Amino acid sequence: MSKITVKAPANIAFIKYWGRSEHELYIPRNNSISMNLSNCYTITSVEFGEQNEDIVEVKYFEKEVSLLTPNDLKSKALFRQIERIRQESGIDKKVKIYSENSFPADAGIASSASSFAALTGALLILFGQKEKFEDKIEFSRQIRLCGSGSAIRSSMDGFVEFLTPKESILAKGGFEQKDLTPKFSQYLHQGSKAKQIADQNHWDLVDIVAIVDPQKKLVSSSKGHLIADTSPYFETRILEMQNRIDLTRKAILDKDFKTLGRCIEEDSTSMHAIMMTSNPPVFYWGAGSIQIMLEVMKWRREDGLLAYFTLDAGPNVHIICQKKDTQEIQKKLKAISFVKWTIYNEVSAGAHIV
Ligand code: PMV
Repeated sequence: MSKITVKAPANIAFIKYWGRSEHELYIPRNNSISMNLSNCYTITSVEFGEQNEDIVEVKYFEKEVSLLTPNDLKSKALFRQIERIRQESGIDKKVKIYSENSFPADAGIASSASSFAALTGALLILFGQKEKFEDKIEFSRQIRLCGSGSAIRSSMDGFVEFLTPKESILAKGGFEQKDLTPKFSQYLHQGSKAKQIADQNHWDLVDIVAIVDPQKKLVSSSKGHLIADTSPYFETRILEMQNRIDLTRKAILDKDFKTLGRCIEEDSTSMHAIMMTSNPPVFYWGAGSIQIMLEVMKWRREDGLLAYFTLDAGPNVHIICQKKDTQEIQKKLKAISFVKWTIYNEVSAGAHIV
């Protein structure tokens, strides 16, 4: 088979995934909800090669092409994913992979989501398992095994929920080894999947990403998930967010922007409180992040401008607004000295072949 190319969007979580009940299978403690982003994406091409090792080349935003090795935590998962799909297919061939990102990586703009979704899709097709790519629920499970849970939400168009089984939400302190019989692990794997809430044409929301620091963050989200439940507030978050998850899903379906915005901000701050109080603590916010959060609240208070902030595992601020307000918000962001540049995103389709 010749070269396969897949494009996948990053997504911004309105309800965040932080912390797992089971780390080997990447099973989250809580459901999460996101919107796919039109201008933050990864395009990945894969083909079979005659060489002895898999070759993975990545062209990060405004950087030289770099060769990945199975050394760091995230690359390990990536090479494992290649191996897993190869073994399942029974085709014993090495691959050449080339991937390009349209935005800064590892800076809280979900670069792992777009890259792992694009990679998994392209590999499944190359290794003759196109039906697993076309069945979007199965595709989402396959993506999860890459190591980036949030990537699951890039499998489908528009607004997507990442479901986790009820047992996982209730598993205070995570599962113990004795609980994880093959049957139960399989149950967790099957139940940990994506579900579309609405497609990209449902609602013209916009995410303006205000870049305050494009550098790679110091603590990866893979490491953060491992220590999330060391925060004394972690179980409280799991409890208090359940109502917010229902409200968020409903607010998307009803196009109720005020309720959605309130949920988005509450969940971002709730997740960052967990990060800052875990052991060791992780602070992703910088001075610029805080300045923008304060400004966004001021715009609402003083100008009646409906915009809401949310931050992933990085200092860059996502401002969620309605399309009609984008010019005014862009103008206001330009006046903040911390903002280096902005990325404008509408709601986008999920991973697809190009
Ligand atoms: O998918 P991961 O393992 O990179 O974790 C991502 C976690 C956050 O981006 C902080 C939140 C989310 O749900 O996207």
